[in-house]
Amino acid sequence: MNILEIIEKKTKGYELTKEEIEYFVNGYTTGEIADYQAAALVMAIFIKGMSDQETTDLTLSMANSGDILDLSTLGGIIVDKHSTGGVGDKVSLVLLPIISSLGVKVAKMSGRGLGFTGGTIDKLEAIPGYRTEITEGEFIDNVKEIGISIISQTKNLAPADKKIYALRDSISCVESIPLIASSIMSKKIASGAQKIMLEVTYGKGAFMKTIEDAKKLAEQMVRIGKLANRETNYILTNMNEPLGYSVGNSLEIIETIQFLKGEVLPEDLKKVVLELGANMIKLAGFGDNIEENKTKMLENIKNGKAYQKFLQMVQRQGGDVTYIENIEKFGKAKYVEPMLSKVSGIIKELPANAIAKYVCDLGAGRVKKEDKIDMQVGIVLNKKVGDKIEEGEKILTVYSNKPVEIPTDLVVIE
Ligand code: URA
Repeated sequence: MNILEIIEKKTKGYELTKEEIEYFVNGYTTGEIADYQAAALVMAIFIKGMSDQETTDLTLSMANSGDILDLSTLGGIIVDKHSTGGVGDKVSLVLLPIISSLGVKVAKMSGRGLGFTGGTIDKLEAIPGYRTEITEGEFIDNVKEIGISIISQTKNLAPADKKIYALRDSISCVESIPLIASSIMSKKIASGAQKIMLEVTYGKGAFMKTIEDAKKLAEQMVRIGKLANRETNYILTNMNEPLGYSVGNSLEIIETIQFLKGEVLPEDLKKVVLELGANMIKLAGFGDNIEENKTKMLENIKNGKAYQKFLQMVQRQGGDVTYIENIEKFGKAKYVEPMLSKVSGIIKELPANAIAKYVCDLGAGRVKKEDKIDMQVGIVLNKKVGDKIEEGEKILTVYSNKPVEIPTDLVVIE
């Protein structure tokens, strides 16, 4: 077997065998296959596509290129969750303590953000002391003892995906459904998931711009899950406006705390959290009735169990719980400026992409991997799409550590 034959076969549109896919993934990861040869094959896949079997073989081969986390000692069914990303997306932070408080084991590895705002791990690091990089042993012990741990992805998780993803990015081949699906699923499988719940986002603040493409991607991942023996389900989420009210790292932690205490439950965030959580409870074997599962989740917000679970997780990972108990301790950015409406009307759009770009410019996200994040900055929406607004009323509030200039494209009012 050699790489030239494999490139030629895919260029002509034929299906690759499992052995050929493994030969490519292993050879490229070890450096035996050159970047230009891998680029030719990736481009051929981008143009000709891949069958479900090829996509699954690629997924498993990338998952097996590094460590596969063994979560079998935890007992029970480990259900992982993945979101294809959004703006103001604090879903994992809210959802996971709730389902953990209902007995579902949560062993979650999350990523950092690049572009847009921070990822779940960056947000958790807004809590002073919270250790996101702990050993695998400590991670498993935490789940055994308190039922939940959220940490940063370990370094050797699907290294082939890391290399192929960087290559795709450099040759404009990111937007291919089989390549995106295998990239996501390889990391889920490597992090020990037995079942997988996906949130595929669409709209201005998402990878997939239309609901049709989001559905295609979701269904491709469900088919990979089936062939790879990992039951997978999904929901589709509109990401045209940010989820909830806050965008920015410590601001989203504050919103998470308020949600878990039952103080502020934005409708859009609540809907996503309940839908994903109810499905995860079902996949974990804790209840087949989705509506009953949602009711149980709401009960554990009301009776304080979900909030207590979050506190327990923060404490266990070394975080300073006095910040959770008193959100004033997070401190405010130097400049706090409202954006006031110049007209009366209805909020037609709060474009997630424009808001994300602005919040990233304030310092809440990274443009390069090495960039340092400013935890305090971001925006809090005072209105959501569909709300009425009067002239002079607040649309949103900016938190910044540099003098504030608010662009006009953050809102459309009619
Ligand atoms: N997220 C991933 O993990 N991989 C992709 O290819 C695209 C988005």
